[in-house]
Amino acid sequence: MSNIDLNRIPRHVAIIMDGNGRWAKERGMARVQGHKAGMESLREIVRHSSELGVQYLTVYAFSTENWKRPEDEVSGIFKLVVIYVKSEIRELSANNVKVNVIGDWSRLPADSKDAIQYAIDTTAANTGLQFNIALNYGGRAEILRAARLLAEDIASGRVSAEDASEDMISDRLYTAGMPDPELIIRTGGEQRLSNFLTWQSAYSELVVTPVYWPDFSPEEYDKAIAEYQSRDRRFGGIKA
Ligand code: FPP
Repeated sequence: MSNIDLNRIPRHVAIIMDGNGRWAKERGMARVQGHKAGMESLREIVRHSSELGVQYLTVYAFSTENWKRPEDEVSGIFKLVVIYVKSEIRELSANNVKVNVIGDWSRLPADSKDAIQYAIDTTAANTGLQFNIALNYGGRAEILRAARLLAEDIASGRVSAEDASEDMISDRLYTAGMPDPELIIRTGGEQRLSNFLTWQSAYSELVVTPVYWPDFSPEEYDKAIAEYQSRDRRFGGIKA
C-alpha cells in the first residue's frame, strides 16, 4: 500500500476478471479449475477493497455472452457462486460488506439463485463495502432495460418526453444511486470493455494488466490504484 494515496482511493472500482482459462491451460488444468482459482483471488480482492476504503466494488463474473461457453464450464461457474457464498458469507458479514447482484440473475440455476438471495438478505443491513457481482450482465441489455422502464413512465404520463434526462437513465440502471466507477481494471491483457458497465464507464480510467485473474494479488491491485492516481482526469475540460 506504500505508493498509494489513501486520501484519493476511487469510490467505485470495477473489475473484468479475465484470464482464468489461460491460467488453467498453462498449468494443464481444466478451465473450471481456473475459475476456482479466480474465486480465491476474488476473496482477497474483496477483503483488500474493504481495507482500502473502496465504497463500491463491481466484478464481472458472467456476461450475457458467456452462455456460449461449454455447458460444463457454465454450470461450473454457477456452482462456484454457491461455494463462494457458503464459504465467504461469514467473513463478508463480519467485514460489514453488503452483497448485491447486477444483471438478470432470474435465469440462473435454482441453487445459485437461492445462494444469491441468501447473501443479499444476510448482508442487507451492512454499511461497509458494497460488493456488486455482475451475473448474466450485459451493458447494452442494461441500457435497453432502463430505456424500457423510462418509456413506460413516459407512456403512463409520469414523465414527459421533453424532460427525459441522462439522470433518468442512470436512475433506472442496476447501479442506480451509485457513483460511476472511477477505475475499471481488466486483467488478462485484453484492451476492451466487453459490454461491461457500458453507460457507467463513460469517464472511467481503464487500467489493463497482463496478469491473469487468479494471479491478481492485493499488491497488483495497489499498482492499479497507483496507476489510476497518476492519471490526469479532465472530463472533457482542460487542466485546472
Ligand atoms: C473470464 O476468464 C472469467 C470468467 C468468465 C468467470 C469469472 C468467474 C470467477 C472469477 C469465479 C467465481 C465468481 C464468483 C462470483 C464466485 P476467461 O475464462 O475468459 O479466461 P481466458 O480469457 O483466459 O479464457
